[in-house]
Amino acid sequence: MSGKPTFEIAMTVNGVRRSARAPARRLLSDFLRHDLGLTGTHVGCEHGVCGCCTVLMDGEPVRSCLTFAVTATGHEITTVEGLASEDGELSPVQRAFQECHGLQCGFCTPGFLCTVTALLRDNPRPTDEEVLEGISGNLCRCTGYQNIVKSVHRAADLIAESGETP
Ligand code: FES
Ligand code: FES
Repeated sequence: MSGKPTFEIAMTVNGVRRSARAPARRLLSDFLRHDLGLTGTHVGCEHGVCGCCTVLMDGEPVRSCLTFAVTATGHEITTVEGLASEDGELSPVQRAFQECHGLQCGFCTPGFLCTVTALLRDNPRPTDEEVLEGISGNLCRCTGYQNIVKSVHRAADLIAESGETP
């Protein structure tokens, strides 16, 4: 008996066409980390609860641990590695998290950065309540959320001041 059948899975990741062969049941989180070597996407609960594995698919946050890689075929995926500009300059959301101490151990941070990037694109001036609602799917065990909320408001300021996109 041969092993499980594999399929050629191709998608655009951080603006680059990427492909690899993987079984039909390969999760997008594992595909990104193990098949494409993009280990910035973190896996916490693997059950869709913690939000650590959040990436953007066609600009919308998705839990990559609940998504089969094959279903991302042909889509545009953005991981935390794709948020900074090509010359390495951090995005406004990344700068704000750094400035406002929105991270401690950093394990949850890639998921927060992707979630907040989409949140501020859709709502450039969220209220506290809207921020809390927007990040409610992401769990952090370290920061108590206050600095994360501050980071989101700071990122909104940076984006408004500079006219940058999130
Ligand atoms: S690892 Fe995907 S939601 Fe926790
Ligand atoms: S900074 Fe440690 S889990 Fe969020």
